[in-house]
Amino acid sequence: MTEQRTAIVTGAARGIGAAIAKRLANDGYAVGVLDLDETACAATVDAITEAGGKALAVGVDVADEAGAQAAVERIATELGAPTILINNAGITRDNLLFKMTVGDWDSVINVHLRGAFLMSRAVQKYMTESKFGRIVNLSSTSALGNRGQVNYSAAKAGVQGFTKTLALELGKFGVTANAIAPGFIETEMTAATAERVGVSFEDFKNFAAKEIPVARVGQPEDIAHTVSFLVSEGAGFVSGQVIYVTGGPKA
Ligand code: NAI
Repeated sequence: MTEQRTAIVTGAARGIGAAIAKRLANDGYAVGVLDLDETACAATVDAITEAGGKALAVGVDVADEAGAQAAVERIATELGAPTILINNAGITRDNLLFKMTVGDWDSVINVHLRGAFLMSRAVQKYMTESKFGRIVNLSSTSALGNRGQVNYSAAKAGVQGFTKTLALELGKFGVTANAIAPGFIETEMTAATAERVGVSFEDFKNFAAKEIPVARVGQPEDIAHTVSFLVSEGAGFVSGQVIYVTGGPKA
């Protein structure tokens, strides 16, 4: 790498996004750490700077058009032109179809799909100008269908179509776009699901691990490792793919 590249990771205050931000900083990138609340990003930013890396916390709702644009401009000014984007911010609002509210439908679709769209649109200028870019979007095994998640599974399936179209449109500018579809990853999101279904997180994880060929649940670092590969210089011929990171062949 001749000059330091800048990466943006959304939803990076905790969980998978925090692990991705730390891994990319360790790989040598300057990292824009985006999340709803700027102060909540401090732990991720401090961990990066204490390890000798470069990071900037930016508070933003990725589903807000003006906010997403402003966040990207701020990163460009303060860290350098962003040419790596990880659309990781996400929420769940689970319920069976007959109980799901319009608000729960809209908020999940907005964060995952509208958010990934707005962030990608704001960043593409810097990527196409640089003739280099890497976009990685977080899908999920729920894209294949998951009871109680009509909103989330629709959003995560949508992310896959969005990713493939980005790959088609941006490829000639040196920009790749890929999606990662994680299986069970140990984060506050899966802890909240355990609480919702009324089992302890330990039991929930042990039960999940029994169905996983590598006999354990995933860690945020498993996803960060896959991101590290996809954004690397050498991964320029990998585009429009969905990589299921699930500890086995089946989602
Ligand atoms: P998490 O709930 O621990 O972290 C998500 C982060 O996104 C939070 O810090 C939250 O504040 C932030 N966020 C939410 N809405 C936002 C918005 N509008 N603007 C900016 N930031 C926002 O979740 P986790 O588990 O780390 O998930 C990260 C991504 O991976 C999500 O897209 C999730 O859907 C996906 N995923 C997670 C799996 C798991 O097993 N944990 C499995 C498959 C996919």
